[in-house]
Amino acid sequence: MSLADKYPQEVKKILAKYPPEQKRSAVMPLLYLAQRENGFITKAALEDIAQMLEISSTNVAEIVGFYTLYHDSREGKYRLQVCTDLPCALRGADRFLEQLCGNLGIQVGQTTADGVITLEAVTCLAGCDRAPLFQVPGVDEYRPFFLVQIHRLL
Ligand code: FES
Repeated sequence: MSLADKYPQEVKKILAKYPPEQKRSAVMPLLYLAQRENGFITKAALEDIAQMLEISSTNVAEIVGFYTLYHDSREGKYRLQVCTDLPCALRGADRFLEQLCGNLGIQVGQTTADGVITLEAVTCLAGCDRAPLFQVPGVDEYRPFFLVQIHRLL
């Protein structure tokens, strides 16, 4: 079933934001919608979006590959993304990441055996003034339980 079949109102609303000749600009919100269902973008959803926007699936895949907020495979329930760009590296990101690997018993790119955490190294998270920085997409507010869990990792 296509994205437009599953979520007709949302797809219509997204596409209405762009002039028809610029509908390719809707790729990011459509990817976000596709990812909401499974936590990652399936190959079928990628093809569906490409067809809907009349662009190549390679173009859509490039966007998925470039932005760390999009995922092309199912991983852990939470993705712990540690920035390793220069400002964060200068403030100890590599050491932080190494400690996380040791405490979690996994390497970067791997998921814990319980399927809860996937550890990723990412580029600038746009918070260089607070370096070193990490984020957990989908957790957009401070929750005591989550903070306790994070503190156990450190
Ligand atoms: S370099 Fe890490 S947030 Fe910018």
